Amino acid sequence: MEKEMQMLREKALAELGQSRSEKELQDVKVSYLGKKGKLTAVLRDMKNLSAEERPVMGALANTVRRDLESAIADKMEALKKIRMEKKLQEETIDITLPARHRAAGHLHPLTKTLRLITETFMRMGYSIEEGPEMESDYYNFHCLNLPKDHPARDMQDSFYITEDILLRTHTSPVQARTMQKHRPNDPIRMISPGRVFRWDNDATHSPVFHQVEGLVIDKDIHFSDLKGTLEMFLKELFGADTKIRFRASYFPFTEPSAEVDISFSSRTHADTKDAEWLEILGCGMVHPNVLRLNRYDPEKVNGFAFGMGVERIAMLLYGIDDLRHFYENDMRFLEQF
Ligand code: PHE
Repeated sequence: MEKEMQMLREKALAELGQSRSEKELQDVKVSYLGKKGKLTAVLRDMKNLSAEERPVMGALANTVRRDLESAIADKMEALKKIRMEKKLQEETIDITLPARHRAAGHLHPLTKTLRLITETFMRMGYSIEEGPEMESDYYNFHCLNLPKDHPARDMQDSFYITEDILLRTHTSPVQARTMQKHRPNDPIRMISPGRVFRWDNDATHSPVFHQVEGLVIDKDIHFSDLKGTLEMFLKELFGADTKIRFRASYFPFTEPSAEVDISFSSRTHADTKDAEWLEILGCGMVHPNVLRLNRYDPEKVNGFAFGMGVERIAMLLYGIDDLRHFYENDMRFLEQF
């Protein structure tokens, strides 16, 4: 019996020594130490031994079991290590491979233009005012000298929400809001950039577009102040050699009113002497009624106002022929800016 046990031990150690994988080793373990294993069978036979032999054999069997268990554990550890090393070698990362490129975005040409405009006026000391896109008839028209049934309302095809509420057709209501926010006759020097809405839709008109409004009110403001301001602004934007032309026009909220055309060198055709004129903004001296409607006294102060379309300016700056490009989000277009 004792000899049998020693042989079993030798055989088991030889077998587990030959195991090539954790799975093989596990099988060897089961075949000796499992419920139906060889060592287990020997232990079961102990009941046939005499009372003197039994404790001796029991002690031996336990030693053999412990030896096998620790040999298996060691071997298991060794096999695991081999497997990990092999895996590490097979799965080495090639750090020389270039990283995947992630394109950085940039500002939309309209945002760039809007920032250019506002920054230019901020340098001239203008504050930035904002107003709601959904506006009352009162601010959008009434306070700007456009009472109900005024024919000039037709100049701005509007989206009405109710009889008295509409999507603002221009940024001019912010003039009225700003005047009413100030103490009457306090000086104002503001611009108001923002989104406006009209039901036009073609290559040069979009139902949603952007404007920048300007308003200056103080004592003794003259038309020459308006001209000087706009000339400085337009030259800053389009270049020092930009030609500027004021053309008489009509707006209900200004009197006199003008439209401003520009001509700048990059737009001038080499083969023609005459520069090409392009309309760029509307302006004028604030109508006395507008001052009165917003609690300012036209006997004490006066001012000028102007309004421009941002898309228009961006089209000129970047040489874009169709304003719908701005809203289509076609990468082939946007990538160019
Ligand atoms: N609000 C006018 C428009 O949208 C532009 C403008 C503003 C004209 C201020 C004169 C003074 O057409």
